[in-house]
Amino acid sequence: MARIPEDLIDSIRSQADIVDIVSDYVTLRRSGRNYMGLCPFHDEKTPSFSVNPEKQIFHCFGCGKGGSVFSFLMEHENVTFVEAVHHVARRLHITIPDTQGEREAGSEAESLARVTRFAARFFHDRLLNSGRDSVVRRYAEQRGLSEETIKSFGLGYAPDSWNDLLSAAREKGIGADWLVKAGLAKTGEQRTYDAFRKRLIFPIQAPSGRVVGFGGRALSDEDQPKYLNSPESPIYRKSQVLYGLYQAREALRRQGQALVVEGYMDLLGLHEQGIQGVVALCGTALTREQARLLARYGQQAYLVYDSDQAGVRATWRAIEPLVESGLWTRVVRLPEDYDPDSYVREHGQDGFMKLVEQADSLADFMGFHANLQAAGDRDEVFRTLAGLIRKTTNLVHREMYREEAERRFPALQGLLASELRHPSGPGGRGGSGGRGGSGGRGGSGTVGRDRQATPTAPARDGDERVERDLVQLMLSDRTIAELVEGQLEPQDFKYPLYRRIVEQCLAGLGDGGSYDLSGLIDTIGDDEAARVITELINTTDSGVHLEQRARDHIVRIKQKRLKESMARLMEQIKQMESGGRSSELNDAMATYMELKQQEKVLLRSARGD
Ligand code: CTP
Ligand code: MN
Repeated sequence: MARIPEDLIDSIRSQADIVDIVSDYVTLRRSGRNYMGLCPFHDEKTPSFSVNPEKQIFHCFGCGKGGSVFSFLMEHENVTFVEAVHHVARRLHITIPDTQGEREAGSEAESLARVTRFAARFFHDRLLNSGRDSVVRRYAEQRGLSEETIKSFGLGYAPDSWNDLLSAAREKGIGADWLVKAGLAKTGEQRTYDAFRKRLIFPIQAPSGRVVGFGGRALSDEDQPKYLNSPESPIYRKSQVLYGLYQAREALRRQGQALVVEGYMDLLGLHEQGIQGVVALCGTALTREQARLLARYGQQAYLVYDSDQAGVRATWRAIEPLVESGLWTRVVRLPEDYDPDSYVREHGQDGFMKLVEQADSLADFMGFHANLQAAGDRDEVFRTLAGLIRKTTNLVHREMYREEAERRFPALQGLLASELRHPSGPGGRGGSGGRGGSGGRGGSGTVGRDRQATPTAPARDGDERVERDLVQLMLSDRTIAELVEGQLEPQDFKYPLYRRIVEQCLAGLGDGGSYDLSGLIDTIGDDEAARVITELINTTDSGVHLEQRARDHIVRIKQKRLKESMARLMEQIKQMESGGRSSELNDAMATYMELKQQEKVLLRSARGD
């Protein structure tokens, strides 16, 4: 889809009525200045989902989700930002014109989508029209693939031919160059030929259902490689797509849990046995983006990889992105020499689900696969566990993971808790660590408290409160944002979350236009920040002396930064004294005095004299 000019987005946003659009999905009732309803994003009996027509934002006090009219549609309809903008534009009868450059960029993606749609249809028809005794039909049958599965997943057949697809495409006016771009044809020295030949075809769909790529399974052992996968293209970003997600999305929402498997056939095998809510990788390792995608549908992830060494290794690597995205993560252990497909075929739905119920905790999984007799390994497991636990954005999960780990390794009692509070070891210092993405469904209270785990000083509660309150004041009042602009830099905010919000607030002031909060939410591109913004806006108190409060905070932050600089300088001065480097020492002391002076001026001006 084409890019939409910024000013048009702004105009659509300003004409949209969030109450109107949300009302398509949620029954809203007026309550003071807001509207309230049952949150569509979590289960509840009493309404805690509020829509603020003045600010054009929504916020749920139950699950903490919040955002603009666009974020509402993205989340609810599971569409991209651009698609959400189009949706609103259609409602408002605004046409989005195709400008020159955009037409090109847009049309390339659109043409590619047309090519993949055509190819998917073509392969699918080839399979449906193959006789009962054809190689591919016999293969499908041997793999236990039913007609229903073939249709639900649009499975196909690429015949044993060098140009079957190429010529069918030519008839439809689709040139070979487009097939090459989509990874469906290859150019050799002599000629261009079909890339997928004599294979069972798995069309890979984006979350929207659009076919973006293909996987192909060889029909016999002699044919290599066993699997062939489309390359990336402008419409296929492997890190952002999960096979089967499109078919699984309803079940994922309903069950709240996803099974993650390695292969196409694993997923289809489970589907055959009536197991739903399964997604598969397409020959790549699980990425953070994929984990976040999953976290939009459910709260739990079960990794069910092959029991061979490669599977175990891949499991180790998949855990981190899942945990980080706030998904409650478990590992299903299959007996040796099984993969999900072979296991479910032998043991059926019940047998398989029994294994899922008995899934390992992270601690169990690590304990099983590490050599805990060796002190080095034990340390390693301990550090890995602590590192993982610290990464989760969900405070409740953190406690639960810790408890499980302590139950599995009683020796960790206390140790883990203190490690979580004061990271030791290499890379242990949380640092940018806990940033996570869209996870953290622990309710509105969690985000703020969770943050505290990032920096170190024990006095941080006060510091965080100051930053948070100042950000809240900035959001509630443009003049306060302007005040901050003249006095502080975003870097002066110590908490990365607030720093990001301040950056966006200040950027929003820059263009002199309206200080548009729902626009801010859209541009920040960060779910956690967006959630905190709506939370802050919705909990703003209409207190008095707002500006004075802001000024006090600014002084406190400035003073704090000065004190930190002075402390650092004093450290250096001490070292210089022992190293006897006198000229540097003099400079450093002069700087120190200067900072001291700045602090005096600051405090004097704060008292107003
Ligand atoms: N894969 C791949 N290239 C290969 C082998 C595997 O891209 N040469 C990817 C495929 O996406 C495949 C997944 O890794 O679905 C799992 O591989 P594997 O376990 O070997 O396949 P199975 O699911 O067991 O497939 P089958 O039962 O058909 O052997
Ligand atoms: Mn396998």
